[in-house]
Amino acid sequence: MVKIRPFESADAGKLAELCNNKKIFDNLRDYIPYPYTLQDARDFINHCQVHDPPMNYAILHGDELCGAIGLVPQTDVYTGSAEIGYWLGEPYWGKGIMTRAVRLMVSYGFEKLDLRRIFTSVFAHNPASARVLEKAGFQFEGTGRKAVIKNGIVRDELRYAILKTTS
Ligand SMILES: CC(C)(COP(=O)(O)OP(=O)(O)OC[C@H]1O[C@@H](n2cnc3c(N)ncnc32)[C@H](O)[C@@H]1OP(=O)(O)O)[C@@H](O)C(=O)NCCC(=O)NCCS
Repeated sequence: MVKIRPFESADAGKLAELCNNKKIFDNLRDYIPYPYTLQDARDFINHCQVHDPPMNYAILHGDELCGAIGLVPQTDVYTGSAEIGYWLGEPYWGKGIMTRAVRLMVSYGFEKLDLRRIFTSVFAHNPASARVLEKAGFQFEGTGRKAVIKNGIVRDELRYAILKTTS
């Protein structure tokens, strides 16, 4: 059973324990630090609590916190579109959890936030994340060639998006 709920202050310890993992850092943007400390987790949770409605959610497997998922609403001509981002603690990989969490977050974005488009970019060396998006109904929109630099290496990124309606 996969659920999402807003973060609570008491989540900080488990969040820090799970996110302090180089394999997670290697697939995320650099603003998420590594090592990832308890203070980083507390700061993140405080930041999450500023938004109403919430934009970042804890992912629960049963009653266990196992990861995080969030939306970044866009502005200006991109209003109505939001970028989705997510990570899962390594002990929980390969169980279909993130596919279900992405579906829940997409429903939230379309039904509660009235978004028309949700998109993200995946580093080309992360086929598991691309597969999650495909299973959750996202379409591949193209490759950003040499779009990112991570750990000092220039890489391509894969752009995926899902629309509220296809018309
Ligand atoms: C990527 C990540 C979110 C996947 O979460 P998960 O819950 O394990 O994903 P799921 O179990 O729902 O689905 C994973 C799919 O990828 C597939 N997969 C896993 N490793 C793969 C690989 N090396 N190549 C191709 N497919 C792969 C799995 O087989 C599965 O597909 P299937 O159901 O068709 O068999 C998780 O590993 C993670 O958080 N990684 C680190 C952070 C990260 O990458 N965040 C996303 C940034 S865009």
